[in-house]
Amino acid sequence: MNTNKEYIYQIVASEITESRMAHSVRVAELSKLLAGCHGYADTDKAYIVGLLHDITKQKPIHFHTQIFRQNNFEYKDIPENSYHAFSGAFYCMTKYHITDPEVLSAIANHTLGGSQLLLDQILYVADFLGSNYAISQPAYTEWLEKTKVNLSYGLLIKSKTVILELLEKEHAIHPTTLDVYNSNCSA
Ligand SMILES: [Fe+2]
Ligand SMILES: [Fe+2]
Repeated sequence: MNTNKEYIYQIVASEITESRMAHSVRVAELSKLLAGCHGYADTDKAYIVGLLHDITKQKPIHFHTQIFRQNNFEYKDIPENSYHAFSGAFYCMTKYHITDPEVLSAIANHTLGGSQLLLDQILYVADFLGSNYAISQPAYTEWLEKTKVNLSYGLLIKSKTVILELLEKEHAIHPTTLDVYNSNCSA
């Protein structure tokens, strides 16, 4: 795998808009920061998964479903707004020959969460803390500082925020998101 940051930056920048790229760079920086705080030794890999995570975010629905069919991937239980996480992992592998299983797992699990792997959890939380929504909240600094001490707090805040948003829209809550919340809440 070519782990040159400049190379990865260039390939991602060729797939998404400038504003989505700005989010991806923020997520890369947060992912590297949280890796350092929580004992994930390969902080450069943490940075790279942040850059890559939304590589297929702006593709149309048929792009994702075509990749799923090509890879015999069952997607009927995955919400549409999470398609890009799973298609992103396949796309990195087939188009850019990125085969590191840790990288692919982190990309695939960044929206629904639920993985017990440290890098997956770091990216899941970094994606939230690098979102326009999170940055605009008065509690942002508190969220970031508490997450730097306790990653479980970040997992709680992201899953709680996702659940509240889904309730507000009267959309279904994926069981994996509920699992993340239940595994990290104080009760
Ligand atoms: Fe995403
Ligand atoms: Fe993202």
